[in-house]
Amino acid sequence: MIRRMTIEDVPQIAALEKVCFSDPWSQRSIASELSNPYSCWLVWEEEGTVLGYIGSQTVPPEADVMNVAVAPEHRKKKIGSKLLTALCELLHREAIDKLFLEVRASNTPAIALYEGFGFQILGRRPKYYVNPVEDAYIMGKELSQC
Ligand SMILES: CC(C)(COP(=O)(O)OP(=O)(O)OC[C@H]1O[C@@H](n2cnc3c(N)ncnc32)[C@H](O)[C@@H]1OP(=O)(O)O)[C@@H](O)C(=O)NCCC(=O)NCCS
Repeated sequence: MIRRMTIEDVPQIAALEKVCFSDPWSQRSIASELSNPYSCWLVWEEEGTVLGYIGSQTVPPEADVMNVAVAPEHRKKKIGSKLLTALCELLHREAIDKLFLEVRASNTPAIALYEGFGFQILGRRPKYYVNPVEDAYIMGKELSQC
């Protein structure tokens, strides 16, 4: 089921960050999102285990996806799609009309996920990522298209 992140989820999300990213968010950074009124994080949980999550930060009337990840053994089961759908619907209800994100230029699975949701490549930020250094695509979509 999808629900909002709670403080109890933070250790599991931090563990997934380490598995999924070379520059993972720390427990402290993730926990600080809970007290940020402009942040919205959702988790996909099954029987007490967090299998995926998505986080955003809002600067009305726009928002950015900060990160989205699914545990490797649970990928390609539409969990990422359901998280993105839920986030888009929630932000749209809160009168956010544009959603942006950055993605590594080589991240084919994520780019395919976003393009399937109607995100378009708007630009490229050279050497945006470290570890390894890599360009980012900036992608965006209108939330009226949810
Ligand atoms: C990107 C990610 C969140 C996708 O989650 P997921 O639950 O596996 O995605 P879904 O099952 O909802 O897939 C939806 C669509 O995304 C695309 N997609 C997902 N995985 C893909 C893959 N390995 N290769 C190509 N396309 C892929 C497909 O278009 C897919 O639709 P389809 O199943 O009908 O082909 C997951 O691969 C992940 O956690 N990756 C590591 C973290 C990461 O890179 N996050 C993005 C940071 S910008």
